[in-house]
Formats: sequence, C-alpha cells, structure tokens
Amino acid sequence: MNYKSLIMEGKSVRHFKETPIDAKILSEIEQYLLECKKLIPSIEVEARFFAGDDNYKRLYGVAGYQGVMIEAPTYLVLISEDKPHHLENAGYLGERARLKASDLGLSSCWVTYSDRNMVKNVLGIETDREVVAIIALGYGSKEKQIENTAKTGDNYSKSNLSVTKSSTERIPLEKMVFIDKWGNSADTDTLSERALLDAFSYARMAPSALNKQPWRYIVDGGKVILVLDNEEYCGSYTNKIDAGIAMLYFGVILDVTMFDSKWGFDNLDKDYGIPSNFTVIGYCNI
Ligand SMILES: Cc1cc2nc3c(=O)[nH]c(=O)nc-3n(C[C@H](O)[C@H](O)[C@H](O)COP(=O)(O)O)c2cc1C
Repeated sequence: MNYKSLIMEGKSVRHFKETPIDAKILSEIEQYLLECKKLIPSIEVEARFFAGDDNYKRLYGVAGYQGVMIEAPTYLVLISEDKPHHLENAGYLGERARLKASDLGLSSCWVTYSDRNMVKNVLGIETDREVVAIIALGYGSKEKQIENTAKTGDNYSKSNLSVTKSSTERIPLEKMVFIDKWGNSADTDTLSERALLDAFSYARMAPSALNKQPWRYIVDGGKVILVLDNEEYCGSYTNKIDAGIAMLYFGVILDVTMFDSKWGFDNLDKDYGIPSNFTVIGYCNI
C-alpha cells in the first residue's frame, strides 16, 4: 500500500452509489485489520460489516453529527475490549481500515455517536465488548460529491452545526508543531534537518471530528509528544479517536521512511509550558 498517496488523496465521502460491496473486498479489509500493525496489540478488536439500507434507517438519529446519519451500502463497526487507551487504538485501526478501503477503490467516512449501547441495540449486536467505531463504506457517488463541494459539507448544514473552518482545510505546520516547548513554532528547515518534515506534513492531513484538528506536537530531542485540545479529553469519544488517527498518520510515515514507530502513554515528568486546556496524550521515540 502506498500510504503517502492514500493519505494525500484521502477525503471523507458522504454520498455513495447503491452498488453493494463485494464480500471478497470486505474480507480483504477484515484480514488486513487482523494482520496490520496495531497501536496497542494486546487489545482485541473485532470488525463487523453491516450491509443493507435498513442499517441506515436503524442508525438514523443514533449516529452522525447530531443524529444526521450518512447513508451508505455498508458500515464497518469495530468492537473492542475495554482496556486503557482502547479508543485511541480504535482510531488508529479504524483509520487503517479507511486507508485499506481506499486502496481497494472504496470511499468512506467516520460516523460519530454518543450512546454506544444504543448503537449496539439498533444493530442487534450482542457482546460484552464495546462498539468503538462506525465507518460508512461504499463507492463514492461523483455527481453528488460535486453538488456538495459547499465548504462545510451538507451534513454540517443539515445538522445545523457551526463549523468555523472549511470541512477539509488544515492548520499550517507552524501552528501544529513546536520545538522544545509550547509556543516555539517549528519551521520547515528545522523539521527537515531533523528528518521529521515528511512525517508531520502527513500527520497534518489527519481527519478529525468536525475538522477540529485538536492535535499539537512538541519535538523534544528524541521524543515527539502528542498534545490534544482537551475539551474534556477524559470523557470525549471523538477526541480519543482523533488522537489515534494522528498517531497512525505520524507513525505510518516513520514506518515507511525511517524506522518502526512506537507510541507510549507513560507520564512525562517535564514542564513544556502547555496551556491548561491541552492534555499530553502520548509520545513517540524518534
Ligand atoms: C471521529 C470522527 C467522527 C466523525 N464523524 C462524522 C459524522 O458523524 N458525520 C460526518 O459527516 N463526518 C464525520 N467525520 C468526518 C469529518 O468531518 C472529516 O474528517 C473532517 O471534516 C475533515 O474532512 P476530510 O476527512 O474530508 O479531510 C468524522 C471524523 C472523525 C475523525
């Protein structure tokens, strides 16, 4: 898989053709998820696919921005053990599934929800484990995509959410990456000298809920620290998924260009001058 081009060309697709997805393609995605690198390998995660339009009707009002569900021929649902950082792990894996799906010619979009038990109920999922991700999958409908190039995307406008940025725009690197301490903006020359420009340029493309782009990074010698605009990080489902996706995008580029990346979650006992509304999530040794 060419991760770089998949990341650069990736975008959320919210309108799909009715064409069903071949079972062989779905099992390729499932197999890939079993074999691929995980953020936390000890957490068991199961992938289930829900096909047919009754799933859209069942999920309407339960999932999607303010309950405005995305209509797709198939939904990938990830079901996970409830262990520390299982949601970051789900973000990492769910986004891997999106990259694989894209490699196989499919389009996709994350779908948020607030009540995971309700998701289980409407889809008839019987398990003690937790629903940790819903991803709409299908063949993108071009005509409809063109209609919907409106800046905020019709799901935002339908659900009447105020999104200040365009739904796909990204913040510049110098606002996202700091050197040594908070506020000390990185420039491209410094990142390039440290062989990190590539990884950050791709990490910047990570999708996030409502395109909030809550991630910031501090480069401290041999460590890259991921910091998130917390918005109740401890309780927020989407923030943790966003963090996992960011870890994947940064890590996968290191994996293909430099060395095997590994994220850790231990406490870092160091004062970086991080404002109180941001939380350290983890770090990657580089
Ligand atoms: C955790 C998460 C949840 C999301 N939930 C929804 C959703 O419910 N409905 C929707 O239309 N888009 C959803 N999105 C897609 C984001 O709005 C989209 O990724 C962002 O606007 C950036 O656009 P792009 O992916 O096209 O680059 C979600 C994305 C993430 C990461």
